[in-house]
Amino acid sequence: MSYLEKIDLSYIPQHVAVIMDGNGRWAKQHGRKRVFGHRQGAYSVQEVVETASMLKIKYLTLYAFSTENWKRPKAEVDALMSLLVKSINDQLNKLLEQNIKLSVIGDINSLPPKVQNEISRAIKASENSTGLNLIIALSYSSRWEILRAVKNIAIDYKNDKIDVQNIDENLFTQYLTTFNFPDPELLIRTSGEERISNFLLWQLSYSELYFTKVLWPDFKKENFLQAIYEYQQRERRFGKTSDQIKLGK
Ligand code: FPP
Repeated sequence: MSYLEKIDLSYIPQHVAVIMDGNGRWAKQHGRKRVFGHRQGAYSVQEVVETASMLKIKYLTLYAFSTENWKRPKAEVDALMSLLVKSINDQLNKLLEQNIKLSVIGDINSLPPKVQNEISRAIKASENSTGLNLIIALSYSSRWEILRAVKNIAIDYKNDKIDVQNIDENLFTQYLTTFNFPDPELLIRTSGEERISNFLLWQLSYSELYFTKVLWPDFKKENFLQAIYEYQQRERRFGKTSDQIKLGK
């Protein structure tokens, strides 16, 4: 029985975030270079995006390249950048057909100009789509994002745009790169690592964490459906007691 039959379609998370991990190990297991693993990983991206869209998930955030990933060998960084440009080029029409809206979070200015241009073009082309919001985290790290927010709050304070008393969770959220998106209800990380790795630290405060040993290139439709099913078995309490949740208090 497919997990699709087990899933409660009336209780789908609106935002799912994914740390796509294990491309390198997958390549090694198959006796291939790391870049081959990333290429295979791009197929998993397609399948997960299609499945999320089919389930009417509203936001899907994928961690494609972290600030720390710049420290990898230049050849791998270059290959990842080329793969991103190629994936966007190849998939843009399909994204538009599926009514998907593309966004990017991260330090975009640090990306090579070609990548920046491709991204801007795809974001512009999909700006009127009303289906799934596909958010790619690129040159992103949560500490970078939080420091950026603090600096911008300091600037706005200095320019008399905000009062100290008004700095609350709501205002702070508006200074994050994710200001347009709700917090994820579910974080998926593949490959058996059980870490957050500087990803959406503020936004994941109450998210359910789902870890699977499956390496990202092997993570396909059924694996994603299973993660959604497992999420539906969890009880989200937000600091309340189980009884309070059951009684709707
Ligand atoms: C982590 O595996 C994966 C990445 C750093 C890159 C993820 C990128 C893709 C899947 C390419 C396509 C992306 C899009 C959005 C089209 P790893 O290299 O850290 O694996 P390892 O831990 O086994 O070495």
